[in-house]
Amino acid sequence: MTIEIEPANHADIPGLIALLGVLFSIEQDFRPDAEKQHRGLALLLNQPGRGQIFVAREPERGIVGMVSAQLVISTAAGAASAWIEDVVVIEDCRGTGLGRRLLEAATAWASSRGAKRVQLLVDADNHPALGFYRHLDWEPTRLLAWRKFTD
Ligand SMILES: CC(C)(COP(=O)(O)OP(=O)(O)OC[C@H]1O[C@@H](n2cnc3c(N)ncnc32)[C@H](O)[C@@H]1OP(=O)(O)O)[C@@H](O)C(=O)NCCC(=O)NCCS
Repeated sequence: MTIEIEPANHADIPGLIALLGVLFSIEQDFRPDAEKQHRGLALLLNQPGRGQIFVAREPERGIVGMVSAQLVISTAAGAASAWIEDVVVIEDCRGTGLGRRLLEAATAWASSRGAKRVQLLVDADNHPALGFYRHLDWEPTRLLAWRKFTD
């Protein structure tokens, strides 16, 4: 069955929330929260100049994978760069090339909008994902992600 990689739309939000529930159950720094995910996805879909969500869509089952990309300005690169987030494929579709295709779509989108670099964060214990990115020629950095909540 053909699976297309295409931009997400508002009707996809329930499927995207389900996928993010899978992802945020794996990543120890996050917790699934359908209401917050709904708000975040709607914000992103309402600002197409700022970011883009791509889905892997199967005719029968609907959305079986997703990725998002968001632009920032990098002073290091002297140009835009893009954060790639929300990389997830449903379990029984993994290993069929969808993760690669989703990342390619997000990278092409970022590049077409002037991004000279794409970057992402990976849970240090997520060894399958680390192997996946390494296989696709992503380079690890010496930076660590830190955070502080403002509310
Ligand atoms: C990580 C994930 C997105 C990969 O998606 P996928 O669709 O299974 O990956 P693909 O089938 O597109 O794999 C692409 C290539 O990477 C290779 N690969 C995949 N996982 C690998 C691993 N752990 N180690 C080495 N190579 C790996 C594949 O063999 C394939 O190689 P090829 O294209 O040269 O034949 C998917 O496993 C997933 O959703 N995991 C749970 C969520 C998650 O951890 N997301 C990452 C958050 S940072």
